[in-house]
Amino acid sequence: MKDELHWFDAPTSWNERRKRSSYHWDNKIDDNESPMIWLNKVSLKGDWSHELENAVYDQTTQTNLSKLLERNSAQESLSLGLNPRLKSYRCFTTASDQPLIHSMMEHLGIKSTHVKIHKQLPGDFNLLHMDTMSQDISHEINTDADYDLIDDESVDTVRVVIALNDWQWGHFFQLGNTMWHKWDAGDLVYWDWKNLPHSTANAGHIPRYAGIITGKPTAKFWELMNGKEKTKIIVN
Ligand SMILES: [Fe+2]
Repeated sequence: MKDELHWFDAPTSWNERRKRSSYHWDNKIDDNESPMIWLNKVSLKGDWSHELENAVYDQTTQTNLSKLLERNSAQESLSLGLNPRLKSYRCFTTASDQPLIHSMMEHLGIKSTHVKIHKQLPGDFNLLHMDTMSQDISHEINTDADYDLIDDESVDTVRVVIALNDWQWGHFFQLGNTMWHKWDAGDLVYWDWKNLPHSTANAGHIPRYAGIITGKPTAKFWELMNGKEKTKIIVN
């Protein structure tokens, strides 16, 4: 049955995204074979553990209330009784500081403007949401623009999430009505980021590290995503 519960009374990012979403909004449907999810199509293999240890996680949640997207996001947290300054640790990689992780965009056939590392500590979570590509074009956070304008700019943008360490008990990654888990470092997921609700959490004891690549896909990317077999790629 179509969900009617998940709406906010106040203006929020969720409401804006949901009214533009093509998801079926029925939590009884099996999404394991959803055409909105491309799971474990590629396995990247390499040792990037020193890059995770040496990264500086200085990108954190923005709460400038004069900007529409940040205000809507803060309102969402407040409506749920949560601190709008929830911690979130991210690092923009560079070719010199994190060469292996940064090079993943080329291995995957994505022309990317940024490759981020997200460090999710025990107790951290990323609330249920659909993505808005406010960092699509550059490192500048374009939270002054409205949703329709950002959607126009990001219509052919893809975003993949790469597990940078092995799955551990307490690591959660929800995509619609299904759950990605038991991943190995280097496994990845691509999904319809604009339409499919998703969330992550670390209720475990060990940090969860994810690479997030956002950019424009080349033919190579679609070949990898549409391959019948899982493609193994060595990153070194
Ligand atoms: Fe997301």
